[in-house]
Amino acid sequence: MEAFDVDLPTLQATNRLGECIGRFALPGDALLLIGELGTGKTTLTQAVARSLGILDKVVSPTFTLVNEYREHASDSPKQFPLFHFDLYRLESAQTDELGLWEYWEGNRGLVVIEWAERLLDHPDDFLEVELFHAGEERRARLISHGERSFAWLKEIVSCWS
Ligand SMILES: Nc1ncnc2c1ncn2[C@@H]1O[C@H](COP(=O)(O)OP(=O)(O)OP(=O)(O)O)[C@@H](O)[C@H]1O
Ligand SMILES: [Mg+2]
Repeated sequence: MEAFDVDLPTLQATNRLGECIGRFALPGDALLLIGELGTGKTTLTQAVARSLGILDKVVSPTFTLVNEYREHASDSPKQFPLFHFDLYRLESAQTDELGLWEYWEGNRGLVVIEWAERLLDHPDDFLEVELFHAGEERRARLISHGERSFAWLKEIVSCWS
């Protein structure tokens, strides 16, 4: 496990972090987002989606469990889907019955989960991003959980620096 702390003084900084995360994402990767209301989880996901070349506007799934984005700009180097979950409205006990593992096994796309603190079960390997309020600003802590996410995190750190 390795951790990396980032100051996010502006919306643009959050967007740039999402761009770095997406640029080095691979199919089968899992990004678990943790943090209070309004800390920037959806903003970060939207930036990740843009860097994957996804054309549709990314909105948090509110009435469905997952939004699947499969359409990419034809010149985008990334052409794998984004599966975007938001567990806000769920109790932890419910998250076990969702069949989430189907999304993070099989290397089909990138799985992004808002309110991942609700999960009882985790992927074998995942990148955790915890977002915090810092006055009007935000901070993030990125933590890798496994070999693949450690490699991913190293690429994100060099992209950010
Ligand atoms: N680094 C930042 N500095 C200042 N404002 C930011 C920053 N990042 C995001 N914001 C703003 O914070 C607000 C909330 O962002 P967002 O909806 O992404 O949060 P969220 O964590 O998804 O919230 P929720 O828990 O309700 O899903 C938005 O207005 C967004 O523009
Ligand atoms: Mg959100």
